[in-house]
Amino acid sequence: MFKRRHFIVFVACLIGLPLFSQTTVTGDSCIDCHKSEDFLVTDKKLYDYFQDWRASIHGQEDIVCVDCHGGNAKAKDKEAAHVSRMSPDSKSRSVDFQNIPDTCGTCHDDLLQAYIKSNHYQHLTKKDADRRGPNCVTCHGSLNSRKLNVNTVAEVCEQCHNEESENAPEIPNKAMVLLNDLNTISGYRRFIERRDPVESKLFLRNLDRNLGELSTTWHLFDIEKIETSTSQLLKEVKSKRKAVLKKSIPKK
Ligand code: HEC
Ligand code: HEC
Ligand code: HEC
Ligand code: HEC
Ligand code: HEC
Repeated sequence: MFKRRHFIVFVACLIGLPLFSQTTVTGDSCIDCHKSEDFLVTDKKLYDYFQDWRASIHGQEDIVCVDCHGGNAKAKDKEAAHVSRMSPDSKSRSVDFQNIPDTCGTCHDDLLQAYIKSNHYQHLTKKDADRRGPNCVTCHGSLNSRKLNVNTVAEVCEQCHNEESENAPEIPNKAMVLLNDLNTISGYRRFIERRDPVESKLFLRNLDRNLGELSTTWHLFDIEKIETSTSQLLKEVKSKRKAVLKKSIPKK
């Protein structure tokens, strides 16, 4: 999915170019200017945005400002750098609410394709103000993009799924249970990898593929589908763990 970047890293390694760490990236004027410590005093919010990005998985993976915002990262001057971004009230800005899925989807395409099929997306684009659907950033944040887990998911879903809204109030709890199961699967996966790395190689490879598919399934936001896939994977990984456990107990 991220071939371009992986290719750049690969080539850089091949020809022995040093790969700069985030703080020393040069030649990207967005970063060179936005990272300035001066903003700590003059524009604290702007400073915080940059720190959020830098600490995020995107910052660490070298996904830079222009990947989401556009603009000219070669221009040193602010106006010139910002130039190809549209005016703040233009509907065509890449980070405007309705355009966010496509912007994120340039890299997370499988998830975007699933999300587009969801009820959530219908409610995002239909613009019904009282039942607005969530966007990628509603659930994951933008500059500080992060995954959801068993501890954080309920709070996110509860924004809209609660008793007062009468919009499927059982959802937050169901989501929590499902991400808890996902945690258990990951735990068992680690156990199998540690105890039986060689003979379980194929099993683990299949499991990882299925986990990737489960992430895609999540973005359809069809609870029954997610439940079915999750319990299937949990069953498989549980029985594999049992087999590995049995194998590693020496026979008398
Ligand atoms: C020379 C400094 C400088 C450069 C270069 C620069 N910025 Fe900015 N940027 C700023 C400042 C200062 C602000 C605060 C608002 C303002 O003064 O316009 C800002 C605001 C922003 C904003 C929020 C406001 C808005 O209009 O949406 C975004 C997004 C942004 N910059 C992205 C970028 C991107 C992407 C690049 C590179 C293509 C970039 N900046 C290059 C200094 C810079
Ligand atoms: C993964 C995509 C992504 C990356 C990378 C990213 N941004 Fe953003 N950024 C967004 C989105 C989406 C929003 C709009 C937030 C919202 O609507 O909640 C945003 C909002 C902002 C804002 C707030 C003002 C505004 O226009 O809403 C600033 C300032 C900003 N980004 C600057 C930057 C800078 C500087 C970089 C690089 C250091 C950067 N961003 C990297 C996606 C990104
Ligand atoms: C230019 C490519 C690119 C764009 C655009 C992009 N991402 Fe990412 N994203 C990545 C890469 C690379 C990773 C790290 C590898 C991975 O975990 O898949 C990542 C990771 C993530 C993760 C964390 C996954 C984890 O394993 O922790 C989330 C959540 C995420 N992105 C959400 C978003 C959102 C939301 C947007 C839009 C605002 C967005 N991304 C835009 C490339 C991109
Ligand atoms: C209603 C909330 C919600 C929305 C909207 C949403 N996601 Fe997610 N996303 C989740 C949940 C829950 C998970 C956790 C499932 C998992 O870990 O696989 C997740 C997982 C992810 C991951 C990690 C996948 C992995 O392989 O580990 C990425 C990346 C991601 N989402 C990106 C996106 C993008 C891009 C969009 C918009 C097109 C989006 N999400 C919309 C809730 C949401
Ligand atoms: C910004 C508001 C918002 C957030 C946040 C949100 N949803 Fe939704 N969700 C909706 C709307 C609106 C609907 C459509 C309800 C309808 O059609 O009447 C919906 C529908 C659903 C449905 C289908 C329910 C059904 O009965 O058909 C599921 C499943 C779902 N959401 C899961 C989630 C999960 C899981 C989260 C948290 C990770 C979440 N949602 C967060 C607004 C939201």
